[in-house]
Amino acid sequence: MTGALLEVDGLAIDYGTGRNIVEGVSFAIEAGRTLGIVGESGSGKSSVARAVLGLTPYAGSARFDGRELAAQSRTVWRATRARLQMVFQDPYSTLDPRMRVGAQIAEPLLVHGAADARAARLRVGELLERVGLDPAMATRYPHEFSGGQRQRIAIARAVALNPDLIVCDEPTSALDVSVQSQVLDLLQDLQSEFGIAYLFIAHNLGVVRRMSHDVAVMSQGRVVEAGAVDEVFDHPTDPYTRALLDAVLEPDPVERHRAPSIPEGLTSPLHTLSSEEGEER
Ligand SMILES: Nc1ncnc2c1ncn2[C@@H]1O[C@H](COP(=O)(O)OP(=O)(O)OP(=O)(O)O)[C@@H](O)[C@H]1O
Ligand SMILES: [Mg+2]
Repeated sequence: MTGALLEVDGLAIDYGTGRNIVEGVSFAIEAGRTLGIVGESGSGKSSVARAVLGLTPYAGSARFDGRELAAQSRTVWRATRARLQMVFQDPYSTLDPRMRVGAQIAEPLLVHGAADARAARLRVGELLERVGLDPAMATRYPHEFSGGQRQRIAIARAVALNPDLIVCDEPTSALDVSVQSQVLDLLQDLQSEFGIAYLFIAHNLGVVRRMSHDVAVMSQGRVVEAGAVDEVFDHPTDPYTRALLDAVLEPDPVERHRAPSIPEGLTSPLHTLSSEEGEER
């Protein structure tokens, strides 16, 4: 299929070390769909997310709406960046503790010239309401909110410019289970309402299954298995994926929110998504 919103092909990241930490990663995300990425800690999930957001140099290809991200001029990148937003585990990585939340939600609108000050104030109220908060809270600071509320604020800021894609890196991993569920509901509602696509990274496989249409399983910097989420989770073909799924079935309340540790020697033979598969999309 052609015309995916985000098409990543043979992505490699070496952080300037000359040794690839991420290698041969390929996937595609269609408009309005969610691709989940799972894999052990250090497998390269956040690195891929940062490359897609233009925060980490990469080799290979990452095209957003058909245009290579790394090759974009400053002006084109600005326009792309408005359509490509992020929500991370720690809201403080996107929220400034010294700035009122209303001003932070308004910031992208003002920076991109999407609204003047008055229109932005109105839009902030609407956005706060849309994410389940009281518009009167706009004058408060991030520390005056709970973790779940702060993540709602980060989401309000991320959706302010009606983005096509939001990169969510462990967006609910720091939240209590019930709060986590509400924030996931919100993300799903926003997807149905606005057709936003997500690149959704999480340790919790249940969360990824609930959120994703497709999933890519990463191990040691590569995608070892990918496909429709039910297919991959119900009929994993890769030994690493199987181990990952099996490990989750062993209850361990303390560690449950972290990726299960995979026994040594069970890492996969590293078959990546083939490039043919990449072209098919
Ligand atoms: N800026 C950097 N410079 C050098 N190496 C880095 C850098 N950032 C990450 N790495 C390395 O890249 C590898 C992948 O890290 P990454 O954060 O992408 O993994 P992850 O899958 O997101 O892990 P986690 O589940 O713990 O968040 C790790 O070995 C990490 O040490
Ligand atoms: Mg990470």
